[in-house]
Amino acid sequence: MTDGAQAAAGVSSAAAAVDPILDVDGVTLQYKTKEHLITATYRVGFKVYPADRFVLLGPSGCGKSTLLKGVAGYMTPVEGNMRLKGVDIKEPGPDRVMVFQEFDQLLPWKTVKQNITFALMNGGKCKTQREADDLAMQYIKKVKLDRFEDTYPHMLSGGMKQRVAIARGMAMEPDILLMDEPFAALDALTRRQMQEELLALWEDTHFTVLFVTHSIEEALIVGSRILVLSPHPGQVKAELNAHDLNHGNMSSPEFGELQTKIHDMLFADRILEDELQGEDA
Ligand SMILES: Nc1ncnc2c1ncn2[C@@H]1O[C@H](COP(=O)(O)OP(=O)(O)O)[C@@H](O)[C@H]1O
Ligand SMILES: [Mg+2]
Repeated sequence: MTDGAQAAAGVSSAAAAVDPILDVDGVTLQYKTKEHLITATYRVGFKVYPADRFVLLGPSGCGKSTLLKGVAGYMTPVEGNMRLKGVDIKEPGPDRVMVFQEFDQLLPWKTVKQNITFALMNGGKCKTQREADDLAMQYIKKVKLDRFEDTYPHMLSGGMKQRVAIARGMAMEPDILLMDEPFAALDALTRRQMQEELLALWEDTHFTVLFVTHSIEEALIVGSRILVLSPHPGQVKAELNAHDLNHGNMSSPEFGELQTKIHDMLFADRILEDELQGEDA
């Protein structure tokens, strides 16, 4: 096993006393509106180690995006703390790059390559245009979009746009890549292809990723570790290892067992919620 794979397995990282890249400890995140105080997550804690493919899994509204906003530096916890490489997260920075679900995250008036070089220059990653061009092309090739570097976003399919967003995120070479349901709006086939491509990219560079999804199957395929969150407000239900699961062994007993286990965990909440709503009525 490579170092990255070991860290991803989460087994040896503790034993080898590797420091986490991201340490989220007892974090409560709230939204204050005029009338309401909405608690999105309640005392959530987890640690992401180098080369982890760490997945936040839970039903819609359980605070997954809110947690990413916190890590990205757009929200401050009312309780607990978030540290990146041991330093409190206070504001956004190029050391954390976000990839979203929406296809419109690219600048429509810039080409594929310009979208990436623009981020590289603005984020301070590259000092010269030449350097930015070279790095952009390197990552455009990684996501198999060479030949499309001079194309504008409106000419690309949804999957291709997501590849550009991923290439841009990876080219920034952040400490951690934040992905908020990046494949949720794609058709099933493209989604599967993108999951495979993401895993191939990970095999190549062993980047660290915090990946949000509400799909149990996607969590098992993409993730090396999975944090299962309860419905609103999001609280940690369980942390599980899924490093050996992929498309190739989806029909194996291990895959099925873990899928059922998570399903039951999430479904138990659903039943409880329905009962509570019944009492309200
Ligand atoms: N800007 C906002 N203002 C007020 N409440 C919000 C805002 N964004 C999200 N929420 C609420 O916070 C909770 C968690 O939302 P979110 O993090 O988007 O969940 P998820 O990404 O898991 O679907 C939900 O109840 C949602 O309605
Ligand atoms: Mg969300």
